[in-house]
Amino acid sequence: MNEQLDSRGHLRHLITLDGLSGDVLSGLMDRAEAYLIAPGQPGPGDGSLEGLTVCQLFFEASTRTKISFELAARRQGADVVNLVIPTSSAAKGETVLDTLLTIQSMAVDFFVVRHKEAGLMRSIATRLGDRASLINAGEGQQSHPTQGLLDVLTIRQHKKDFKNLSVAITGDIRHSRVARSACHALLALGVHDLRLIGPENLLPESNELTHARRYTDFDAGIKDCDVVMMLRLQKERMKSGDIPDLESYRKQYCLTSRRLKLASGNAIVMHPGPINRGTDMADEVADGRQSVVRQQVGNGVAMRMAVLAAIAAGKKS
Ligand code: NCD
Repeated sequence: MNEQLDSRGHLRHLITLDGLSGDVLSGLMDRAEAYLIAPGQPGPGDGSLEGLTVCQLFFEASTRTKISFELAARRQGADVVNLVIPTSSAAKGETVLDTLLTIQSMAVDFFVVRHKEAGLMRSIATRLGDRASLINAGEGQQSHPTQGLLDVLTIRQHKKDFKNLSVAITGDIRHSRVARSACHALLALGVHDLRLIGPENLLPESNELTHARRYTDFDAGIKDCDVVMMLRLQKERMKSGDIPDLESYRKQYCLTSRRLKLASGNAIVMHPGPINRGTDMADEVADGRQSVVRQQVGNGVAMRMAVLAAIAAGKKS
């Protein structure tokens, strides 16, 4: 979406990673690295949001994304307000757009929004005035750009060269905005060997993510991979009949230490969280030496600091 860049190519909103170049993504990763004291350990900000206000509106559940955006904004010196959706005027029938435009009238500079409706972010962005920027914190099953960014940052900290990587994304890919944003970022950064593993009805439609190879056989798909990204079964987005029989799903797709041995010896294991232990992966893997799940969370704060700072810099210049 070109509307997220201004006429000089600066980031004005962050709606999707689809269409952003490898250079833009690398620039954001470099900026995030500057806010880390060690991989996965966010340090202090640089005050680049001093005098600016961030409003968070999470219409869907969130732990990591919401808290990390708020910490990122505060560490950059912003004022942060949160709308509590169940007790807001949304409960009286106000549309999301009216809610945002109302709050915009109070001189807000950034909106951080999570919502289940596909296409909503783009339509909001086109209606915001010059002052406010929109950051997508999760849009239906379509996109989750800051998650995609923190994921590639985490991969870069372990694996220097994207071009020769084998990356497997496993589980409920069909309903996963995390998988879609990760694929957009990985392809832009030059990954050639991208594999999607899951039961047939949880793989994306055949006309989507066509650059990736598809596997229903976990053991074949994970073979010699450098990165294994596990996903949760997103029941809240499934239609009846989509949910596989849980026991057979676990048998075929839960990442156990036996299965992980089929990947490359120094493969990293990722998960955006929340983990359903025993279904997505076994405890021994989630807490094992190859897991970078906690590092992803820490990187998420630095990456959100970077995105906020990049957009704020564009506003000032
Ligand atoms: C994910 C999300 O909300 O899309 N979580 C996250 O933001 N870290 C993944 C999920 O809910 O399974």
